[in-house]
This record gives sequence, C-alpha cells and structure tokens, in this order.
Amino acid sequence: METLKAGLLGFGTIGTGVAKVFHTNADLMRQRLGMALELVAIADLDVTTDRGVATTARLTTDAQSILNDPQIDVVIELIGGYEPARTFVLTALNNGKHVVTANKALLALYGEELFKAAEENGVRLLFEAAVAGGIPVLSAIRENLGANRFSGVFGILNGTCNYILTRMTEENEDFALVLQDAQRLGYAEADPTFDIEGIDTAHKLAILISMCFGTWIDFNRIYTEGITRISALDIQFARQFGYQIKLLAIGKCEDGVIEARVHPTMIPQHYPLADVRGVFNGVRLMGDFVGPVMLIGRGAGMEATASAVMGDVMSLARQGRAAALGYPPLSMARLPVRPMDEVVSQY
Ligand code: HSE
Repeated sequence: METLKAGLLGFGTIGTGVAKVFHTNADLMRQRLGMALELVAIADLDVTTDRGVATTARLTTDAQSILNDPQIDVVIELIGGYEPARTFVLTALNNGKHVVTANKALLALYGEELFKAAEENGVRLLFEAAVAGGIPVLSAIRENLGANRFSGVFGILNGTCNYILTRMTEENEDFALVLQDAQRLGYAEADPTFDIEGIDTAHKLAILISMCFGTWIDFNRIYTEGITRISALDIQFARQFGYQIKLLAIGKCEDGVIEARVHPTMIPQHYPLADVRGVFNGVRLMGDFVGPVMLIGRGAGMEATASAVMGDVMSLARQGRAAALGYPPLSMARLPVRPMDEVVSQY
C-alpha cells in the first residue's frame, strides 16, 4: 500500500493536535483513503518537552532536514507568524513539496507570492485551518459553493474574542482573567494582541475576501478595531436593547466595490450569528444562487484546528492516489485572482 509522508514544522498546540490525529485515527484514515498517512518527522526548537502524544516521528531542531528530505511529500507548517514560516514554506514549495498551513497571518500578507510559487512548482498549498478553525468554510467556498458569485461574507472569526465576550456577557467576568483562560486553553495567538485588537480576524477576512471575490486586497487597508474598549456596561446595555456584541468581520462586494472591515458590532439577538457562543466561530456567506449559508463550529483550539489540517492532508493523499490510478490531477488550489486595480476598494 502506498504511503503519503508528512513532515511537521512546529510542535506547539496545533502541532501536538496533528500528531495526535496521525496516531489516533491512522486506521480510520487509511480505510477511507485506501492508503496510509505517516508523520515522518517533526521540527521544533523544543524537542525535549513531553507533549503527551504517542508518535513514531523523528524529532529534530533542524527544519531544513525536513524541507530537504526527498521522501517527504507534504510539509505541514504550524509555526505561525511571518518569519521563518515564509522562508520555510517557500523552500518547501520550491523543493516540490505540497504545503498545508494554518498560518493566516502569512497568507494574508504573502499569499500572492506563495500561491505563485506553488503554481510554478506544480504543487498545492492548502490552508483550511487558517480560517475559522474546524469549520470547512474554505472548501465550501471553493468547491460546494464554487458556482456562486458571492456578494457578502460576514463572520465571527476569532475564538478568543468570542470566548471573552461570551463570558463577559453570560458570567459578568473580567476581560483580563478570561483572556488568561483563553491562553491556557490554547485558543489565543502567541501574541494575544493579534486576537483582541482584531488583527487575527482581519487576516482571516483578507483570505475570505480573496476566496469569495477573486481579488487580493491590501491587508493594511482593512479597517480594524478589536474588543479592548468593550466594557461590561456596553454589553449589558446592548442586551437590554436586544443585541449581542460580537467582533464581526464584514466583507461585501457590490458593483465591483469591495468593503472590508472588522469591528465590534451589535447583532440582533434573533440572528444566528448572535447565538454563536464561546470558542465557536460563525460564517455567513451570501451566494447568488444558493442564497444565505451559515456555518458554525469550533473556531480555535488544538483538536478543531488539527481536524482541518488533517482534512487538507487527506485531500492531498486523495489527489496523489487519483494520479497513481491515472486520473488527471485536480486543479490547483490557488486563490482566484483579479488584478487589484480592477477593483475600486473602499474601506
Ligand atoms: N487565536 C485564534 C482564535 C486561533 O482565537 O481564533 C485560531 O485561528
């Protein structure tokens, strides 16, 4: 039986989750794919801390040993941030390896360069875990809803903020204490400023907009406001008037004009997005044929994010298997691109 071999960069919270899925659901995935998945090696600066996960993977501090290993088919990048993640991903693509990443910051700023490298090298760059954790929103946009022209995408895209706002609303808890809990539970970014100032949400919105509307947008032009100025009193007043305060990402495309913003928003309590609680995320898409579609699920955390990463790894395995059986290769999973100057941007 064939085996798809993977190398993992980053053995933090999500990396540990990925190693767990490789180990725990190996038989299930092999049965579903008709081929095996093997985690061959894991690179991290810390290879001594016990993550509590059984793995046969080789542990190394040398990422290059994975990037240059000819037996590795796919590199899973879970380091996060811009560098060295960008250099590693480019090296992997240029070495002819597929890449799966959860790195929204990287894609929001350097997506165009990375997708070009993937295309030039005939490999795929998959990133389902980069937006809305375990919710398969990107595959839905690309595949199931791919025949639609989208006019809007709205979302609660940051689990940390939604967790904080939910506990402030329902338990009247203190912002700073709940943030500490979110960090302990593995929801928050290494720098939680990215979460609470809305930057992580804006990264995800930039990716959604490029997927839905077919153009790259300048991340720095997205109006971005986080939740640090929301007080318990704001939340109580909003509730009295029938609203929930949520950190909302808003992307619209009307007559070629794109609107992109992230800010706390009062959502009427009877709207489904108002009922997205805790670490859950919610995304509302508006397509011209399908109409409104709501997707809700866990938006952060080890297990949900690892689920999305492994879905991408399985998709690569299916593609490899189809090629081995003589089927033509699947189309490249690059973002659709219109030149930016064709779009009047308004933020
Ligand atoms: N810090 C992110 C969040 C992780 O809280 O949503 C998932 O992207």
